[in-house]
Amino acid sequence: MTATTFPAGFVWGAATAAYQIEGAIHEGGRGESIWDRFSHTPGKTRDGATGDVACDHYHRWEEDFGLLTAMGVDAYRFSIAWPRVLPDGRGQVNQAGLDFYSRQVDALLERGITPFATLYHWDLPVALEDAGGWPARATAEAFAEYAGVVAQALGDRVKHWITINEPWCVSMLSYEGGEHAPGRRSWPDALAASHHALLAHGLAEPEIRRYSPGAQVGITLNFTASVPASDSPADRDAARAFDGYFNRWFLDPVYGRGYPSDMVAAYLGAGYLPEGLSFVQPGDMDIIAAPTDFLGVNYYTREVMAAGAGPGEWQPVRLDVPRTEMGWEIYPEGLYTLLLRLYSAYDVPRLYITENGVSYLDGPGADGRIHDVRRIDYLRQHLAACQRAIAAGVPLAGYFQWSLMDNFEWGHGYAQRFGAVYVDYETQRRTPKDSFFWYRDVIARNGLDG
Ligand code: FCB
Repeated sequence: MTATTFPAGFVWGAATAAYQIEGAIHEGGRGESIWDRFSHTPGKTRDGATGDVACDHYHRWEEDFGLLTAMGVDAYRFSIAWPRVLPDGRGQVNQAGLDFYSRQVDALLERGITPFATLYHWDLPVALEDAGGWPARATAEAFAEYAGVVAQALGDRVKHWITINEPWCVSMLSYEGGEHAPGRRSWPDALAASHHALLAHGLAEPEIRRYSPGAQVGITLNFTASVPASDSPADRDAARAFDGYFNRWFLDPVYGRGYPSDMVAAYLGAGYLPEGLSFVQPGDMDIIAAPTDFLGVNYYTREVMAAGAGPGEWQPVRLDVPRTEMGWEIYPEGLYTLLLRLYSAYDVPRLYITENGVSYLDGPGADGRIHDVRRIDYLRQHLAACQRAIAAGVPLAGYFQWSLMDNFEWGHGYAQRFGAVYVDYETQRRTPKDSFFWYRDVIARNGLDG
């Protein structure tokens, strides 16, 4: 390995998620998800955007797989829509839904592309939300059943599984922040949801292993680097608390440390746990901590934290620095320090970057091409951070760019563009951006340029 190449066998990939690209929400026997309902509720998404059509990937997936081949990826990370497989969340299996993904898996393998399947990327069947959603323990049990159904159908061919994508978003952003479906605003609900999302991961693992022998199974967590605004003890405490809320609350249980005691104390003190940790039943923490084969890391940015109003509270500080279209600071150093931390402090045996990428709105210029130089810059800096981490001994096995193509960016609708491929939503025409070709060349040489 020279300074610019990656280890042999490094997995290069691109990622998507079902609700963000598929569309066809009423086809193939699919049931309703919380994102259908949320996006159709006035005022919840930018310009009232929905995933009804999205990138129409449900009908155009073969063309989209052609893009994967042109990119030269080794692997493709996609998600399976729970309501396509179990329209009511539990019970009756919709064979057409399974067949849809089964055809995709076959097509990927024919192209020499390894499928990385995510079982939950946020499209909970509404029937389960109506029965309590993630704050209810039964949702975790339903998830394990669903995981078993999918693994039974695809587990002979899919050998890389991600249980839950970003439990912080599944719980905090969706049940306390109100920004994601189902849009609730309750700390007790969010904290119960966080436990059940982690429990769902733990309960699903043996189901997947049963039907997918030899598979690698992991969970994907999203991390935001948390940096104190100054060296003052109060700012450092604030950064530590934000790290506890966003990162450690999910990471520690998966690696056998239980919920961080400083955060439990803070939540109890704030009245967010009126019944304490009563949602934790005997044995749960062992189920959550069952050994995984890898950790999926989603990384985009950092937050700079100053002391908030009370003890253990934080206040984000907005530095005057270049930002992406999402308003996120570009902070590749945070990826490097995160990877080192996961390796040295948590002893994670294998890591994949399951998402990293950037939204800029660059569209076709006069020459018809998309000169997204800022995206190339962002990717280059983050890949360099990966490389430094590998050189320091971190067992980073692969990198998936978010995203293969522009898509429905949740509450932001279509007003953000994370894709390596530009999508014209009027015509559904796909146009690879300059960064697509740049990434293709990185993959081909297994390393950065220069
Ligand atoms: C992550 C999500 C992914 C996408 C990116 C920008 O939190 O997993 O679906 O929205 O952010």
